[in-house]
Amino acid sequence: MRSLSALFTNNRAWAESMKARDPEFFARLARQQAPRHVWVGCSDSRVPANEIVGLLPGELFVHRNVANLVIHTDLNCLSVLQYAVEVLRVEHIIVCGHYGCGGVRAAMLDSRLGLIDNWLRHVQDVMKKHAALLERLPEEQRLDRLCELNVIEQVANVAQTTVVQSAWERGQHLEIHGWIYRISDGVLHDLAVCTTSLAELEENYARIYTRGAEG
Ligand code: CO
Repeated sequence: MRSLSALFTNNRAWAESMKARDPEFFARLARQQAPRHVWVGCSDSRVPANEIVGLLPGELFVHRNVANLVIHTDLNCLSVLQYAVEVLRVEHIIVCGHYGCGGVRAAMLDSRLGLIDNWLRHVQDVMKKHAALLERLPEEQRLDRLCELNVIEQVANVAQTTVVQSAWERGQHLEIHGWIYRISDGVLHDLAVCTTSLAELEENYARIYTRGAEG
């Protein structure tokens, strides 16, 4: 007997409802995908990429990992970005974090969870880099702020990949966005770090951390 049969029942119902709405939907998808956005988000089951931005299959090219990290040597993430930018010619790369991220929390508390601790070292690097800024905040605000800072740092990491650098050098239009999602109300927030060039990245970075130092 096949287990998880409820998921197959759900699938059949979903496929039928999609066809009822648009009889050509799957035939069109099978011919090609033409997404205009890449989503780099957290693996957290409460942050389903397509759903929270109301996009259909075919409209969002998705990469997810714990704590939505973009690591310079992560071939998985880099391959997603390279294929999306150079082959699919997407125009937007969205790094989306979320408040209350378990990965960010574990990094902050220095929890011992196993192999994943090594991955979360990258979040601890962000935390150490901005320790002065975080320490000035009341303790209950630090996790949320670190979730935001982690997104901002990943936007910078995306901008510094050879993939994005090369795209900008050849004049390809490509915007990198930093967003954060609040699970408790389902609302997305723009962290206002949209970047379309290295110069803009540096401007955003200076503005954010100067404001942080004042606040
Ligand atoms: Co998370």
